[in-house]
Amino acid sequence: MEGARRASRYWSGPAAAGRPGRSVQAADRRRGPPVKGLILSGGHGTRLRPLTFTRAKQLIPVANKPVLFYAIEALRAAAIREIGIVVGNTRDEIQAAVGDGRRWDVRVTYIEQPEPLGLAHAVKLAEDYIRGEPFVVYLGDNLLRDGVRDVVDAFRDGAADACILLTPVRTPQAFGVAVLEGDRVVRLVEKPRDPPSDLALVGVYLFHEAIFEAVNAIRPSWRGELEITDAIQYLLDHGRRVEARRVTGWWKDTGRPEDILEANALILEAIEPAVRGQVDERSHLSGRVVVAEGAVVEESVVRGPAVIGEGSRIVRAYVGPFTAVGPRVHIEGSEVERCVVLEGSAIVGLEARLQDSLIGTGVQVVRCHGRPRAFKLVLGDQARVEVL
Ligand code: G1P
Repeated sequence: MEGARRASRYWSGPAAAGRPGRSVQAADRRRGPPVKGLILSGGHGTRLRPLTFTRAKQLIPVANKPVLFYAIEALRAAAIREIGIVVGNTRDEIQAAVGDGRRWDVRVTYIEQPEPLGLAHAVKLAEDYIRGEPFVVYLGDNLLRDGVRDVVDAFRDGAADACILLTPVRTPQAFGVAVLEGDRVVRLVEKPRDPPSDLALVGVYLFHEAIFEAVNAIRPSWRGELEITDAIQYLLDHGRRVEARRVTGWWKDTGRPEDILEANALILEAIEPAVRGQVDERSHLSGRVVVAEGAVVEESVVRGPAVIGEGSRIVRAYVGPFTAVGPRVHIEGSEVERCVVLEGSAIVGLEARLQDSLIGTGVQVVRCHGRPRAFKLVLGDQARVEVL
C-alpha cells in the first residue's frame, strides 16, 4: 500500500526528446555515474507576499525569466538530464510552466510534497526517484552566476559523501552556517542567533545515498522542519566525508522582494543586447537593452541594462538601468528605474520616478486626475507602498 501510494506521488514526461548539440554531447560523455538533479520547489514563499498569493515563488521572473528556469538550465549545463522537481501546493502552476522538460532536453519527474516540512523532508520523499545515484539538490529560488558544472564534475569523480557550497555573507543569521578547520567542515548550524562564522550554505548540495540514512534519522528543528543542515551534520557525526567548496561568482537566494530586485540587476548586467521590437527615431537606447518582439518604444529613453518584454508599450517615458519590464506592460509619461514590472501592468503619468519597486501582474500605477487630489489605493493583503 505504502509502495503504491509512494509511486503515485511521482509523475514524469516521456524520455527527453531532441538531439543535443555537439558541446552538450561531449559534456554528457563524462566519466562516473550519471548524476540526477533534484530541484526543491515546495514552500509557501511567505516572505514574497503578496506576489506569492497568486504564484509560486519559483516562477517569479528575473530578467523576464522564471527563477526556476535558471536552475533547470544550470543543471542541464552540468550534463544532468534527469531532474526531479519536488512540488507543493503550487504544483499545477509549476508543472504548467515547466512541462516534461523537453524544452531543455531533460526529463522532468514531479515529486509531491504534501506539506512543506523542510528541505530534508523533500529529499526523503525523493529516495525512490534517486535510486542510489549521486544527485544535486538545487533550491528552486536560488541563482548562481557560475552554475554548478564544475562542482558536479568534481563530485562525480571524487570520494565525498556530500559536498556543500559556501559563501561569506553579511547576515549569517538568515542562513545555514558552516564552521571550517582549514578546508575541513567541522560543524553546521541552521540560522544561528550567534553565528560561529560568516560562511553561509548556498542552496546547492551534492549527495551520495548516505544522505538518506541521515534524513530518515534526524528530528524536526525548532521551526518544525527537517533541516538539510541537520542531515549533513548527521553525516559529519557519523564519520562521513563532507566537502565544502566556495562559490565563485555571485549567489542569490531570491526569498525576499529586495533579493528579486538584486538578482534582476545581476542577471541584467550580463544580458545580450537585442532589439527585435520597434524603436522610433525620437527614442534613445543606450547600454545593454533588449526590446522583445512586438514591443514598441516611442519618444523614450531606455538606459540599459534593461529588458522590455513582448508586446509592451513604452511611450514618452524613461526606463533606467536594472529594470525588467515584463510582457504587455504599458509605461507612459513616467520614469522607472531598477524595477521589476510583471505582465500586463500599467505605469502612467507619474510625477515622481518609480524606483526599486517590484510590481505584480495586471497592476495599475496611474496619476490621479480628478478631485480630490489624493492617493487612491486598492492594495492586496500585505502589499507595501512608500509614498513621498
Ligand atoms: C535554506 C536552508 C539554509 C540555506 C538557505 C540558502 O534556508 O535552510 O541552510 O542557507 O536555504 O538559500 P530557507 O530558504 O529555508 O530559509
